[in-house]
Amino acid sequence: MVLDSMFSNSLITRRNALKIALASATGMGVKKVWDNLDSEDVFAQEYFGLNSLKQRAAAKGLIYGAAIPKDYLAIDKKLADSFVRNCGILASDTDLKWDALRPTPDKFDFSKGDWLLRFAKKQNIPFRGHTLVWYQAFPKWFEGVLNRNNAEKLMTEHIATVTKHYAGQMHSWDVVNEAIEPYHRRSDGLRETSWFKFLGPDYIELAFRIAAENDPKALLVYNEASLVYDLRSQEMRRDFTLKLLDKLKSKGTPIHALGIQSHLTGHLNILDAKKLRDFLADVASLGLKIMITELDVNDFELPFDIATRDSLVASKLEEFLSVILEERAVTTVITWGLSDRYTWYSRYKRADSAPVRPLPLDSDFKPKLAWDAIAKAFDNAPKR
Ligand code: G3I
Repeated sequence: MVLDSMFSNSLITRRNALKIALASATGMGVKKVWDNLDSEDVFAQEYFGLNSLKQRAAAKGLIYGAAIPKDYLAIDKKLADSFVRNCGILASDTDLKWDALRPTPDKFDFSKGDWLLRFAKKQNIPFRGHTLVWYQAFPKWFEGVLNRNNAEKLMTEHIATVTKHYAGQMHSWDVVNEAIEPYHRRSDGLRETSWFKFLGPDYIELAFRIAAENDPKALLVYNEASLVYDLRSQEMRRDFTLKLLDKLKSKGTPIHALGIQSHLTGHLNILDAKKLRDFLADVASLGLKIMITELDVNDFELPFDIATRDSLVASKLEEFLSVILEERAVTTVITWGLSDRYTWYSRYKRADSAPVRPLPLDSDFKPKLAWDAIAKAFDNAPKR
């Protein structure tokens, strides 16, 4: 892009350069452009090819999207418009979990999931479901009902009913979420969840087989947290996850991808590019695809000043995605939300009580440096 040759590639410089160039190209005063460009000015995006994240990702054979609860998409038109402009895949956050789907032991409520599927279909983009088997987000009745005698029936009926309901319409399912917990000190690193307690370690393989039987078209994903950093606990998670994936594949389990949640930490410099790159290559060598499924950057410990904080968040995204996207088995990048107005982090408070800023768009749906960082990572990624 001509602008790059004129200015250094720093995110802030490029954006300012763009505003000045746009003002001269359009005859508008720089101030007017300045105030408008960040509102995702369609003219700016078209004129300078500042396409949306959806288009930047697609240009390299990748998919970018976001996980957003139905209740937010349904009530906030600006959120929905920003989503449609920027996202090439919709993922569920809370609406396809047990507590949303199962109001009572013998009733399924698909209303929110169906709404999301209709929304995705209307935009002609894929829809991914999160999550069929987890140790959290149970409905209130669950703990009092689950026991050794009904655990297998409860789990398999849930998976079969839900995957059958959406069969043929899903991009992918997080079949099992967060089954690894090194602190439970098992030799296989498995988390001792209720499912594990009553069904043993093979509950994971069983879950994938039931999902595949009822929706042979969906990509079936194992989703895990805390796999990214050069910390002892996360190195153990990577090792246990690889062992689990290798065991599943060696038994012919219908599993197609690893989901790496990627809730990044803004204030720590603990990413070892080689260790992360080697882990991704090991996963890919099992014949699995890789999806980034819950990307955001917690800024709780970052400075109050917004320009400084946004720049640090952007640098963490750029650092992470530059390593991730080198691995061609990586197909998809999904942020856990799109705008700071709707992030799960807002329920926790910074010491200075300043609103958190973990996502690509600010709370007025304007692109931030985080948006630029993700866009730049897609632009620099090898084409799939
Ligand atoms: O919708 C109800 C609302 O009606 C009620 O008034 C309110 C107060 O009880 O609760 C609302 O539901 C909450 C829901 O989020 C929607 O906001 C649930 O209590 C709350 O538990 C739920 O938290 C979600 C959590 O998963 C558990 O499902 C978070 O938003 C969501 O970001 C989080 O996401 C997880 C991923 O699934 C797995 N990876 C980690 C990630 C972050 O924890």
